[in-house]
Amino acid sequence: MSNSPTKIELTQPDDWHLHIRDGEVMKDVLADTARQFARAIIMPNLKPPVTTVDLAKAYQSRIESNLKLLGVTEFTPLMTLYLTDNTSADEVRKAKDAGIAAFKLYPAGATTNSDAGVSDLKHCHAALEAMQAVGMPLLVHGEVTHADIDIFDREAVFIDTVLEPLRKKLPELKIVFEHITTKQAAHYVRDAVTGGKNTIAATITPQHLLMNRNAIFAGGIRPHNYCLPVLKREEHRVALLEAATSGNSRFFLGTDSAPHAKGAKEAACGCAGCYSTFNALGLYAEAFESVGKLDKLEGFASFFGPDFYSLPRNSKKITLAKQAQSIPMELPLGDATIVPLRAGETIAWSLV
Ligand code: NCD
Ligand code: ZN
Repeated sequence: MSNSPTKIELTQPDDWHLHIRDGEVMKDVLADTARQFARAIIMPNLKPPVTTVDLAKAYQSRIESNLKLLGVTEFTPLMTLYLTDNTSADEVRKAKDAGIAAFKLYPAGATTNSDAGVSDLKHCHAALEAMQAVGMPLLVHGEVTHADIDIFDREAVFIDTVLEPLRKKLPELKIVFEHITTKQAAHYVRDAVTGGKNTIAATITPQHLLMNRNAIFAGGIRPHNYCLPVLKREEHRVALLEAATSGNSRFFLGTDSAPHAKGAKEAACGCAGCYSTFNALGLYAEAFESVGKLDKLEGFASFFGPDFYSLPRNSKKITLAKQAQSIPMELPLGDATIVPLRAGETIAWSLV
């Protein structure tokens, strides 16, 4: 492939980190996902959170009803459970038998709907041991939450105080360090010694590949560029882009697309989350093209995720073309609207 193609064919990608919410709004965001992706890891941070297999199955059937309403027949939601201080080893084994794809660790208070999250991992030892034993991946929101740790340092401190001790204790536990945002995280995952086993990986969002923290303050406060973990300095963006485009199979696509209605973002205490799904693949293509690495997009978007999760790669192909797409100022979201990432601008690449 030349370094400046105008069309690329890819095996259909999956989104390994996605929020689709519940109720009325789900249908609108699912439509954008199913247009581009074959499967997605569905985050469990609903209100109340999806903490049991029964709740996950009920959520899955609501998703399936919405897919039916949309006339989508070829999209598979991969369900996850929300880890709490009280998750039992039994629930982990039950989840494995029920085909649940992973558990998600939210440190209590780290982000949207995380109040029921884990207060201290020491409470979860039995559940984590069971995950290691049955090969159930643990997906981590990698930030400490202590008020005395600067928000821009929370991910790096998490690596030293939570992640590394956890990996020492349970070296065979499969961990995905979700939506990494720092060079410390990118290098930690790249350099982790695993004895050849598939025990650590990371997802990377489009916004963290394309923007640094200046984007939150460009000419005024930009709530639609605010997500958690928050955008970091340029040196971190560069390190993430290098990791994503390196061809290293430990890094794969996870949009962390996190819809919040316009009014909940444009508020005195606005919610965290960027809605990137509308043309997520265009955003990733733009990022990869910026460093002349479009040839590395397919591995990142379509191969390394299923390989890590021990799922088959998709067989269908899609085509991205260098055709500028205008991003609307707003999109429907149930009774409200949502402002997508890059609203009012264009993205150079789009799905054909
Ligand atoms: C997510 C959400 O809104 O659910 N927000 C975000 O900024 N990414 C939660 C999360 O993944 O942290
Ligand atoms: Zn998320």
